[in-house]
Amino acid sequence: MIVIGSDHTGIDLKKMIIKYLVSKDIDILDVTDYKDQTGDDYPDIAYTVSKSVLKNNCLGIGICGTGIGFSIAANKVNGIRAAVCTDKYMAQMTRKDNNANILCLGSRLKLDNVLDIVDEFLFTEFLGERHQRRIDKIAQIEKCEKDGVNYGDSL
Ligand code: RB5
Repeated sequence: MIVIGSDHTGIDLKKMIIKYLVSKDIDILDVTDYKDQTGDDYPDIAYTVSKSVLKNNCLGIGICGTGIGFSIAANKVNGIRAAVCTDKYMAQMTRKDNNANILCLGSRLKLDNVLDIVDEFLFTEFLGERHQRRIDKIAQIEKCEKDGVNYGDSL
């Protein structure tokens, strides 16, 4: 399953992506499937998508005007690695190296082949090995910040 959510700027893009993924028989959980989507704020959507991604242990897609606000908010949630991608290479590498679990897209950007970016993100595997060590360090930074410990002391 793939979790998806957008703020008011990304409704059309979200619908296009959902239609595409449904045509590929992929289960979608749209956490922003409601009628009045005029006054929503991207931090609320990012939080909801993030919690759902963690709960379902799956990948997610988040959309706001640039993808940036969404990623900043989502990355505040422990365990989330959200990446703004504007091309296929970024989508591929953030899966391979960063094990990103949320793809952030900008609805107001002139993205070429946005569905190729989605495909690349969803169907590229994390490489593991030395990259896992680095992911573990990101988790360690999260833990230190939560516990009020200086991560830099361990460097
Ligand atoms: C909403 O106007 C806009 O600020 C939001 O979609 C996003 O681009 C923020 O990063």
